[in-house]
Order: sequence, then C-alpha cells, then structure tokens
Amino acid sequence: MHPETRVVHVVAPVPAAAGSRPMAVPLYQTSSFAFDDPAVLADSMTRPDGAFVYSRMTNPTVRALEETVAALENGAAALATSSGMGAINLLLHGLLRSGDHVVAQRSLYGGTYATLQDLSVRYGIGVTYISGHDAEELRAAIRPTTRVLYLETISNPTGHVSDLPALAPIARAAGVLTVVDNTFATPLLGRPIEQGADIVVHSATKYLGGHSDVTGGLAVFADEDRYREMWEHAVEFGAAADPFAAWLTLRGMQTLPLRMRRHEENAAVVAGFLNDHPAVAAVRWTGLADHPSHAVASRFLSGFGATFCFDLAGGYDAAVAFSTKIGLISLAPSLGGTGTVLMHPASTSHRQLDEDELAAAGIGTGMIRIAVGIEHPDDLLADLGQAL
Ligand SMILES: Cc1ncc(COP(=O)(O)O)c(C=O)c1O
Repeated sequence: MHPETRVVHVVAPVPAAAGSRPMAVPLYQTSSFAFDDPAVLADSMTRPDGAFVYSRMTNPTVRALEETVAALENGAAALATSSGMGAINLLLHGLLRSGDHVVAQRSLYGGTYATLQDLSVRYGIGVTYISGHDAEELRAAIRPTTRVLYLETISNPTGHVSDLPALAPIARAAGVLTVVDNTFATPLLGRPIEQGADIVVHSATKYLGGHSDVTGGLAVFADEDRYREMWEHAVEFGAAADPFAAWLTLRGMQTLPLRMRRHEENAAVVAGFLNDHPAVAAVRWTGLADHPSHAVASRFLSGFGATFCFDLAGGYDAAVAFSTKIGLISLAPSLGGTGTVLMHPASTSHRQLDEDELAAAGIGTGMIRIAVGIEHPDDLLADLGQAL
C-alpha cells in the first residue's frame, strides 16, 4: 500500500464480531484487561503477541499506531512511547551497558545530545561525534566497544543529513546498530530502514501527530527479535504511550501525506523569501543548493522537510528582537503542527550547550529555527516581512 492509503486504512484490532467493523480505530482507554483463565493471563505477560493484558505492556489502540508506523517505515514492528525522548531513552538504556561506546553525528537534537552526555557521566559510556559525511571518519571512530551509531535523517536544527547509505553498511560490518531519528523527514521523505538502519526513532509529537495536541514517540525495529528484546525492556522502562495519545496520533496521521506536501511547498517559498531579505545573513534549508547536505539529501530523500534555520545579520540581539515582533507566527518550542512556529535555539532548546559546543553543532547565536506550517504562504511572508 502507498503511504497515503496506509494512513487512512488503519487496521483496527477489535474482538471478532459478526458482520461489521468500526470505521475509526476505537479508543481502548483502559489500563488493563480481565481474564477468565489464569494461564492465559500469565502467558500474556511474557510476550507482546499474547492477549492484551495491561496498557504498559500492550493495548489495542497503541498497537494500531505501532503497526501503522512500522508499515510506513518498512520495519518489522514498533513500540509506541510517551514522548520522543521516551523512545530515545528506552533505546539507549536498553541497548547500552556501562563501558560501551556510541558514535553519533555532531548535529543532533539538544535533548539527545544532553542524554548522551548524561549517559557518559553516569555509566562511562564513551561518545565520539562525527560529521556523518565521511565513511573513513566512521571507520576510524568505531572501537571494539562501539554498540550504536546514532544519526538524525534531517537534523534538528541545522538540517544536516548524514550519508546513511554509505555509513550503515560500515556499522553493520562492525556489529554496530544504526539508530536513526526520522522525526524531521517522516516516513514520507525518508525510510532509514530501507537504507540499512536497524532502528528508527520518532517524536510523534511533531509531524506524525501534526496538530500540536499530542506528545508521543515511537521506536521502529527492522528486526522482530530486537523488537521483542526491547519490548521486555520497555515493560520495565515504563514510558509506554497512553491510548488516547496513540489515538490522536493515528487521527492526525491520516493527513500526514497531504500536510507534508503543503509544509514543504510553503518551506520552499519562505526559504526563498528569507534568502533575498537584507536582514538575513544565511538560510540553512536543506533544499537550497548551497546547503552542505543538499547533495547527500537529494540522493536518498524524497524531500527536504519544512523545519530549518536562518541567521539574522544582527546576531543575538536581532534574533531576540525579531522573535518578539512576529504576530501570526508563534514563538513556541516543538514543530510539525499545522501553524508556523519559530524559536531561538541558542537561548532555548540548545541552552545546555556552551559557546564552543554551539559552534561545534553549527548553531549561531543569531540563528532562528522556523517550522513552516500549512497556512497560505502570503500570510507567512507578510508576518515575517514586518518582523524583519
Ligand atoms: C529530532 C527530535 N527528536 C526527538 C525529540 C524529542 O521528542 P519529544 O519532545 O516528543 O520528547 C525532538 C523534540 O523536539 C526532536 O526535534
């Protein structure tokens, strides 16, 4: 099935009933399920494919979301979590042991970067950061203790795209698992498992949910055995998705293909406008030919996304002044909703980074991150124009 069809025709797991089925996925807002047979209950607590038992372990609404996203990503199975960070921490804690080593791309979401730093301090997990564009750099970074290669398809906030098709085989040959955060690309623009990744991560809070009304995450596994192993860890970790959040995400996902097309069309218009504006020093949309990741992204993604950065010529003070003057556009964290939002990473999402770390991650002090929504582009340009 094409993604456009898959998101609409979600298979609802319902008890067998004669003659009809619900058009929408039912919301199973229940913490637990009742059993007649204690042996069936006991068995269901040991595996993800037994009877639905307890919503921290399995839930039909959550399962419908997991199966839909696993299918979109061409994975074997998925685990839905309470947030994107829930999925990232579930994986990093579940895959790593003290003394292990991670190779990660330098340009990463600030929360992921902070988690890697934290794991390093708490458990002695070594982290080596690489550019993501150079196969030799990865080969040199891999140690006997390396367990995970961690990438973002289109990075937050700089739009960096690592050369996944070149890196994944090197990781696999060394017995290293490739984990890719596909939040910015969504399975519509990129499917990392098809390019050799072992696990894909999503913040469903963003484009999957798509309406700024739900917090959620997912981990999608290429391999069924790895999914089962992580399911057992997830039951202990306790960051399971709430059924209502899963239901909202599924509802939002029905329009994901339509929204992504419009988000990206608008992003191209906004990037072009900013590029021509004298108050803007640089525009870092991956879709522009001068973006350092443009060539690699063009090779294996089918789009460039709609969240990107631009630098104001006036630096930090200009960025703060600009973000107070916008009207229609909201000054807000997160991204991927229908309305356009922007923020100033140096003082917000990446505040954990000192000046050197900011520079290493490619984040300027006058840099604004914009997540272009699905409004009429003329209204967006009018608001940006007056604020600039
Ligand atoms: C690329 C990326 N991954 C993960 C996360 C974390 O997701 P959540 O906020 O749902 O925990 C974010 C949040 O901004 C993100 O941008």
